[in-house]
Amino acid sequence: MTEKRIVLGVTGGVAAYKACELTRLCVKAGIAVDVVMTQAGEHFVTAVTFQALSGRTVYTDLWDASIPNNMAHIELTRAHPTEAAGIVVVPATADFMAKLVQGRADDLLSTLIIARQPTCPLMLAPAMNVEMWQNPATQRNAMQLRADGVTLLGPGRGDQACGETGDGRMLEPEEIFQSIEALFAPKILVGKRVLITAGPTHEPIDPVRVITNHSSGKMGYALADAARAAGADVTLVSGPVTLATPANVTRVDVQSAREMFDAVKLRVSGCDIFIAVAAVADYHVVNGSAQKIKKDGSGKFTLELAENPDILAHVAALPNAPYCVGFAAESEKLLEHAEAKRKRKRVPLLVANLAQAAFGADDNNVVLLDDAGSHPLPRAPKTLLARQIISRIAVAVTARGPRSA
Ligand code: PMT
Repeated sequence: MTEKRIVLGVTGGVAAYKACELTRLCVKAGIAVDVVMTQAGEHFVTAVTFQALSGRTVYTDLWDASIPNNMAHIELTRAHPTEAAGIVVVPATADFMAKLVQGRADDLLSTLIIARQPTCPLMLAPAMNVEMWQNPATQRNAMQLRADGVTLLGPGRGDQACGETGDGRMLEPEEIFQSIEALFAPKILVGKRVLITAGPTHEPIDPVRVITNHSSGKMGYALADAARAAGADVTLVSGPVTLATPANVTRVDVQSAREMFDAVKLRVSGCDIFIAVAAVADYHVVNGSAQKIKKDGSGKFTLELAENPDILAHVAALPNAPYCVGFAAESEKLLEHAEAKRKRKRVPLLVANLAQAAFGADDNNVVLLDDAGSHPLPRAPKTLLARQIISRIAVAVTARGPRSA
């Protein structure tokens, strides 16, 4: 059996103690952890602690002579004896993020990051004071890192070690562990092209007003990430959301349902799987205005609406259609309404969820509906649900066999 292995970077922040728990979770799951600490990181937790938890040598020195060729910065991510599945930096300080943006390499961790091969993903779990996180320089660095293909895990919001409250709090070890587990996800969708819609749509009324809904995009983005982790070539057609694009996913931004429809029609040819997660507005405004609508004193205003195209139903009805997956957010009679929707849109798989619990949340309860019946999944974070849904889809697509050319 090949060894599962990651490199865990620890930089100098109070949250370094959480990297100890993360190491323990990895080891318990059979993932070998090579810990690399910066000098600042060693001020918070000692190398001895990580050595005890990982059962392996901890690296702190660019000039480590115990590594073949004296090249720890090369060897640690390469065959050791197996290649590292990724590098995860927990915590990642504001200073370390800035260093990576500049491509500086003045210690072992920054040097091995810059020397990693393109196939070795890099994930950072930022942890810092709220003002440090919100500082324009840090925000610029975060944006640049994402553009460079680095995955930022969080940060979250909450109480901070300094006594302040806000953004910048590091994710909990269990949450970071999920992203590490995903590095080892079986590559069940290699060679497959996946098209996903996500987020809400904005149907303009005038230049300042829109009809929209509460979709955050979290579910669709989690599915895009999970499909990419499974080896697929993923395109995400996204309504307006504030989420970062998952690494190595092609994102196409749209505003309205009709723009989403056009973007999907342009890209659906040759796709193997289409997953419609977007909460698409059913109607657009016919009597909208190019200028801001003013009150006319009558005390009322009537919007005239016309139905939007049904993107999912259109794709499902295409000759040689991809494997289509729909979602349904219902406020009552979940299974009854969702199954009726599945039949009406003629899709083999539909994911049903309760609107009150699903929109904007990090966790969800979903039930999968297919020809064999209903299959509830236990309540879980959307990231985990996404991986489970992708596994189901991969099994179904494999059973269906290759599409005709
Ligand atoms: O984004 P989050 O905050 O994470 O929330 C996730 C979610 C609640 C948006 C998601 O889990 C979900 O349920 N999405 C579907 C929302 C919905 O109720 O859609 P619908 O019932 O209007 O449509 C059913 C299906 O047809 C959906 O797959 C939808 O994408 C698709 N559809 C609908 C209308 C339309 N004009 N075109 C479509 O493709």
